[in-house]
Amino acid sequence: MSSTSGAREGVGVSHPNIAFVKYWGKKDEGENVPLNGSISHTLNMLHTRTVIRHSHAAGHDVIRYGEGELQRADSKAEKVIAHFRGLTGDRAPFLICTESNFPPSCGLASSASGISALVLALDDFYGTNLPAEELSRVSRQGSGSAARSIHKGIVQMRDTHGEFLCEWPGLKIFAVLVSGEKKRVGSTEGMKRTAETSSLFRQRQEGVGKRLCRMEAYILQRDFEAFALLTMQDSNEMHACCMDSFPPIFYLNEQSRRVIEDVHALNKDQVRAAYTFDAGPNAFIITREPAYPQVRRHFEEKGYDILDAL
Ligand code: DP6
Repeated sequence: MSSTSGAREGVGVSHPNIAFVKYWGKKDEGENVPLNGSISHTLNMLHTRTVIRHSHAAGHDVIRYGEGELQRADSKAEKVIAHFRGLTGDRAPFLICTESNFPPSCGLASSASGISALVLALDDFYGTNLPAEELSRVSRQGSGSAARSIHKGIVQMRDTHGEFLCEWPGLKIFAVLVSGEKKRVGSTEGMKRTAETSSLFRQRQEGVGKRLCRMEAYILQRDFEAFALLTMQDSNEMHACCMDSFPPIFYLNEQSRRVIEDVHALNKDQVRAAYTFDAGPNAFIITREPAYPQVRRHFEEKGYDILDAL
C-alpha cells in the first residue's frame, strides 16, 4: 500500500507469459478453469504496472490504459475485483491506471499481465497478503493465462493455479512483430467456438496430458531440441484447431507463416530455435545461447520489429 496524494493506493507489477503447451478450452466457464494444463515462461523484460485507488467520480470501476480515455472496467477485471470485495466487504469503486511496455491486444498475452498486475495491486491495496497459490487462483478467475504470470521462470499449470517449475539459464525469447492489429476473435470467444465445433480439438484433448509430461521432462533435462520441436508442434496444433473451428478462426497471417518457414530453414542442420503463437499473428521465437545472436539477427535483417522478452 502506498500514497502520493493522501489517497490510499495499491500497486502491482507483473509480466506476460508465453505458453509452450497452450491452454485452449475451458472445463468450467464460470470459474474459468482450463480444460487442459499448460506450461509457460514468464517474460521478465515485458511488464505491466497497475496503480489503483478509490474513485467515486464515475459511480463504477474505471480503467485507463496508458494515456488513453477512461473506460468502464471489463468483465475480466470485474471478476478479480469482486473476489477482493468478497474478502473485505468493501464496495467503493476503483480508478485503475495501467501501463505496459508492449503493445496490447495483438496476441502478446496482455490479459495475463494485465489481470495478474491488477490482482497484485488489489492485494497491495487491501494488505491481504495472499499466498502465491491464492493470487494465482484469483488471477485465473479473470484470465486463465494470468494464473501463470504470478510466478517467474518456467511455470506449470495443472488445473486451477500455476506453480513454479524451474529456471532455464541461457534460454532467450523475443517476439517478431508482424502486426499491431487488434485480434479479431478474442481468446475466450475463440476457445468456446473451437470446443463446440472442432473435431480435431477432441483429438488434441486425448493427447495433451501426455504432451505436458513430455514437455516437463524435456525442460527438466534441458533437452532443447526435443523441447523446441514439441513447442512448435503444440502451437501448430492449437492453430490447426482454430482453423478447424466453424466458422474458422485465423490468428496467423501470411507473414506469420513466413516466420514459421524461416525457423524451419534455420533449423535445417541443427535445431536452433522454436516459434510459438498465441491468439494473434506475432511470433515468439525461443532460442538459447550460443545460437541467440545469429537467430535474432536473422529476423532483424529481414526488417521485422523485434521485441526482446527474455
Ligand atoms: C492462446 O488466458 O487469454 O494464449 O481465460 O478466456 O482469458 P481467458 O483466456 P486467455 O487464453 C490464453 C490462450 C493462449 C494460450 C495460453 O496462453 O496458454
